[in-house]
Amino acid sequence: SKSVIYIALTALMLVCTNSAVAAEPIVIKFSHVVADDTPKGRGGLLFKQLVEERLGDKVKVEVYPNSTLFGDDDELQALRDGKVQLLAPSLSKFDAYTKQLQVYDLPFLFDDLEAVKRFQKREKSRELLRSMAAYDIYGLAYWNNGMKQLSANRALKLPADAKGLAFRIQPSPVLEAQFAQIGATTSKIAFSETLAALQKGTVQGAENPWSNLASQKLDSAQPFITETNHGSLNYMLISNSKFWVSIPYQVRTQLEAIIEEVSFKVNQDAEELNRKSREQIAAAGRAQILTLTPEQREAWREAMRPVWQRFEAEIGADVLRAAQTVNR
Ligand code: LMR
Repeated sequence: SKSVIYIALTALMLVCTNSAVAAEPIVIKFSHVVADDTPKGRGGLLFKQLVEERLGDKVKVEVYPNSTLFGDDDELQALRDGKVQLLAPSLSKFDAYTKQLQVYDLPFLFDDLEAVKRFQKREKSRELLRSMAAYDIYGLAYWNNGMKQLSANRALKLPADAKGLAFRIQPSPVLEAQFAQIGATTSKIAFSETLAALQKGTVQGAENPWSNLASQKLDSAQPFITETNHGSLNYMLISNSKFWVSIPYQVRTQLEAIIEEVSFKVNQDAEELNRKSREQIAAAGRAQILTLTPEQREAWREAMRPVWQRFEAEIGADVLRAAQTVNR
């Protein structure tokens, strides 16, 4: 009868639609602003490689480095709009969504990258992965770059040497306050525009880990780099919560296991990569690397430290205290 044929056809259609859906891989676009040969750049490529090997038929990863798809000014909105599925912005770029991550920007809080890693394992820091849930921002992991160095068009030995200079900063009120402490002004400039801004003289100084200094050739526009290790540059690997929970459970679990593996590798290799970048800059000889005596470094610490107290209430005293206990 007609109805039997109709039911059979409908069933066939459903089967076809379902298998068509199942055959279509989930696409994860990962956009970032740095070069491939940096901790974050390598992390993105390793993630793509492992997903291809283990989930190749189900998930496809596309990596867009160097702000080629989205940049600092639009990537977070793009994630919320579903135009990109994975980002790893610096923790200094989340000010509009949470104040608590500002803890990572406090100058001279962490002695080294190992201390940063210890804090990231603490519950207080793990909780911050969920601090932007109200904006559908889902924190998957912390990735680290390295300790930041100060660069400028003049030799910075003591805080007073920076007086009157304009520094390029990431969009973080803590970083703004940190430079105000030493009588310097700041300008919030996208990472992709930083080299040009230094070349044009819009700003005369910046703060970056060695890997970003080298991969962006910032040493070509900054004759002096002072090895201050005054802060650290860290990222949060994030997705859109709605997208992330829409991934079938089994696939999502496998993706999360891959992310754990990649994050471990990124954080294990970051220090070595920064060490190599430092060597590269020293060998290129375009910028002079200045090291500080313990007394000189103490002067920078003294000058910048008052910002901790100013931001303690916004960050949360409990979070700040947890961070303070990780140095050895
Ligand atoms: C910066 O803007 O200086 C950094 O956040 C860039 C990056 O992603 O390492």
